[in-house]
Amino acid sequence: MEGPPLIDRRLAFVLGKGGVGKTAVAAALALGLADAGHRTLLVEVGGETRTQALFGIAPSLDDPVEVRPGLFALTVDAELATQEYLSIQLRVRPLVEMMARSRAFHQVTQAAPGLAELVTLGKIWDLATTVRDGAPVWDRLVVDSPATGHGIALLEAAGSARELAGSGPIRDQAEAIEKVVRHPAATGIAVVATPEDLAVTEATEAIATLRARGMPVACAVANSVRRSPFSASDADALRAVLAAPGAGAPERAAAAAAIAVWDGARHDDREVEGLAREAGTPVAVLPLVPDLAPGSGGLEALSAALMRDPAVGGAP
Ligand SMILES: Nc1ncnc2c1ncn2[C@@H]1O[C@H](COP(=O)(O)OP(=O)(O)O)[C@@H](O)[C@H]1O
Ligand SMILES: [Mg+2]
Repeated sequence: MEGPPLIDRRLAFVLGKGGVGKTAVAAALALGLADAGHRTLLVEVGGETRTQALFGIAPSLDDPVEVRPGLFALTVDAELATQEYLSIQLRVRPLVEMMARSRAFHQVTQAAPGLAELVTLGKIWDLATTVRDGAPVWDRLVVDSPATGHGIALLEAAGSARELAGSGPIRDQAEAIEKVVRHPAATGIAVVATPEDLAVTEATEAIATLRARGMPVACAVANSVRRSPFSASDADALRAVLAAPGAGAPERAAAAAAIAVWDGARHDDREVEGLAREAGTPVAVLPLVPDLAPGSGGLEALSAALMRDPAVGGAP
């Protein structure tokens, strides 16, 4: 499926295996979009919040918090969003009936599998499509999605609801949400992997699954990729030092350490090549940075690397 570059789509979902750097990549992308002049909302879902750790600013559950100029962060909590949704939608009969069947609110979510995902996606859709004074409130939304399986379930929540809903207002609403989420001009999915077999396999499978279901995969992101300052001939010279009969212990130790750096980078290069081959999408490559804490410059470095990567739409 073709579409514009990721940075030109209003709604970006960042997906991948747990721990590969979804949150870091989502924050880096959102920061880059804001720096490029787009009013950007970084959306965290599933009750997780890393706003404090990444930007040094406490999150708020209800209102977007401005964490950098033009960059806002919001945590969408499924239960809160469900309450909000139901309070607006109580006139919708199927939901009223559903509530009538349950004694307590949390039983509603339990009684309706997929409702939390649907309401979360509905809230994201609402944020993405809200217009004020004739202009969209948000130019860009970046969703820090839950880990792969749950992330795919979130993306598919509207389609699942449409299939279940038969006809009526819920079906209409699900269809409206689905239309936006599936449309490659509006939405792009970035699948993140670290340069490790397991993460690459999971990313590749996720991309295949998403594509088979007509979801707009925009690119893959290889994150935490090790780089080496050494060239191939440097590596040969280092190996010669190791092999030289006259080399002392300090020289050997230094050469071995440098060769390990070279080998690590070569390993990661091969994983990135494998990802590009298997995924069949453009792959953006982000370096392993020493620190991502606020003030360290790590997030800014990732953001700069991402925004100039042709895989997301930057100039090569
Ligand atoms: N490019 C990177 N360089 C260095 N550390 C990174 C990088 N990307 C992520 N990390 C670190 O790896 C860990 C997992 O990243 P995180 O974004 O929380 O992953 P996820 O959201 O996929 O679970 C965190 O400690 C984060 O700071
Ligand atoms: Mg995360």
